[in-house]
Amino acid sequence: MTDLYAVVGNPISHSKSPLIHRLFAEQTQQDMAYEAICIDTDDTTFAWAMADLRHRGYKGVNVTVPFKLDAFEYATQLTARAQTAQAVNTLLFNADGTSLGDNTDGVGLVNDIELNAKRLFKEQSVLILGAGGAVQGVLEPILNKQPGLVHIANRTDSRANALMQRFNTPTTLSASGWDDIPAHPFDIIINGTSASLEGKIPPITDQVIGKNSLVYDMMYGQQPTVFMDWAKRAQPTCQALDGLGMLVGQAAEAFYVWRGVRPNMTEVIAEVRAQMAKTSTP
Ligand code: ATR
Repeated sequence: MTDLYAVVGNPISHSKSPLIHRLFAEQTQQDMAYEAICIDTDDTTFAWAMADLRHRGYKGVNVTVPFKLDAFEYATQLTARAQTAQAVNTLLFNADGTSLGDNTDGVGLVNDIELNAKRLFKEQSVLILGAGGAVQGVLEPILNKQPGLVHIANRTDSRANALMQRFNTPTTLSASGWDDIPAHPFDIIINGTSASLEGKIPPITDQVIGKNSLVYDMMYGQQPTVFMDWAKRAQPTCQALDGLGMLVGQAAEAFYVWRGVRPNMTEVIAEVRAQMAKTSTP
């Protein structure tokens, strides 16, 4: 029998997850179906929506905005990385009524940078912009890769400080507002703010970008993001990437949680990018 999975969120119609998981299933020859389901909390609660899906035979779901915290509270067991992130993006429904909550966002980012872009974090200097939910989910997987130093900068500096204090790590960890970022080039710069959504760039000095820096925006789109454009203008030789590989990476890890098989990301990233280009043509 075909196993059923879904991504749940609100809004959800633009989600790339059904395409990504269909490509994974074809590639690894898994008998499964995956769809996007919008949950309207005017009509139901997250827990009721999950009970309904389980009743209909679903084996697991991906969870996106705005339900990652609800999923964290719903799960009866949590992986260590979900516990640190305090958010769940993947639920595995067990037959006995329990559910495992996991967070694969951080691994998705780390794998995209290490496996796809072939830049290792070990001993590198890393600048992370933002201190919200997105950054909270990726910090521990980055620290596990033993970078030399990590600086977290955020518009609200107290949030960056609070996040820093949650970690006990051999990596040199510091935090500040925009104005106190050390003005030297960092090896890896990651934008985890939601400023790109508004087409804005955090107001930071471009001295943080070096000739060989990897500049990564967790956002993605049909065109390079404003943050990538800004970085390339400051240092034309830097490498600038958007977050599509992170999206595919988190999906690949969720697929592994459900199916025990790790799909190949490279061809799926290329295919999703190609489909995005097609849909942008008027
Ligand atoms: P997410 O889950 O996307 O991380 P979030 O938890 O609301 O959402 O966090 C949004 C992040 O983007 C925060 O770091 C926020 O900064 P504040 O903590 O100061 O609010 C940052 N952010 C949002 N809009 C921004 C803007 N226009 N310029 C700079 N930073 C912005």
